[in-house]
Amino acid sequence: MSSTAPTKRSQPTNTLPSGKGVYDWVKPFLTTTVGMKVTTAITGTALTLFVIAHLIGNLKIYDGRDSLNAYAHFLKSLGPWLWVARIGLLVAFTLHLVFALYLKKRSSDARPVKYAYKQTVQASWASRTMPWTGLVILAFVLFHLAHFTLGMVGTTDARQEMARKIVQVGYMDLIDDKGRPDVYSMVVAGFSNNIVCVCYVIAQLLLMVHLSHGIASVFQTLGLNTPRIQPALKRLAWGIAILIAIGNIGIVASVRLSWLGDSYVPITRVGDAPPAPVSQPVGEQATPPKKN
Ligand code: HEM
Repeated sequence: MSSTAPTKRSQPTNTLPSGKGVYDWVKPFLTTTVGMKVTTAITGTALTLFVIAHLIGNLKIYDGRDSLNAYAHFLKSLGPWLWVARIGLLVAFTLHLVFALYLKKRSSDARPVKYAYKQTVQASWASRTMPWTGLVILAFVLFHLAHFTLGMVGTTDARQEMARKIVQVGYMDLIDDKGRPDVYSMVVAGFSNNIVCVCYVIAQLLLMVHLSHGIASVFQTLGLNTPRIQPALKRLAWGIAILIAIGNIGIVASVRLSWLGDSYVPITRVGDAPPAPVSQPVGEQATPPKKN
């Protein structure tokens, strides 16, 4: 009986995987422990680089309203590329979260009986709390998106551009004198709320703890760690994590200490006076409105 299965010889060689082929190609890797650990390390690195880039961008706040708003305007002008970056970030975040929690669950399921002596366990408290700090960071990011990307949390006073009345508006309705979204005023208004500030500071401290272990683990997973350089890597990881926390908490503190945000009243066009009617040429009568 002749077999219908394709022989190795009859299969096309040197073809790039495409469509479902890509999934079939990566699936065997992603379903192994090593594959999941490497993916968690790579996505974690990408997310850390995003946090660093985001902080560097946010530091433009110290350069003033025009500088921060110009930077935010530039990001928005990237159009489809901004969406490519956003989708990439979302995929990285999802893979990181799902694989990290799955690996943690599998390793604790493999040891149903707890260690008799906690002292025998080498894991630091930062390492043991990774799932919890990670979930708090997820909650923070969701809140942060609602706060500053969607403007769903809180309102602020703003002066109408034309009518010059003060009205209460959402953060997305703030504009600067060049008509761009006023991200500077949004951040200053956002950190005028005590509870919001406390939540931000707690989230940044937990992010610091998470990164201190996460950054060191990347070197371990990728096999770049040796007992000789391990203490230096740990110090490097803590150093990066602390600098990020100082940068982010510094922005919150600077607003609270009034180092940022002057007596400037933000501008809005919400409920503003309608544009002035086009003036009639001399001698021409405006057509009176029709009466029914
Ligand atoms: C005090 C610290 C922070 C400040 C002042 C801040 C400020 C902002 C602002 C103003 C935006 C909106 C930008 C715009 O719409 O033009 C934004 C977006 C965002 N932030 Fe932050 N951020 C901080 C910390 C963080 C941290 C720690 C993370 C991640 C762990 C983060 C993740 C994001 C994300 C994912 C977006 C959405 C980016 C997009 O798709 O447009 N932020 N942030």
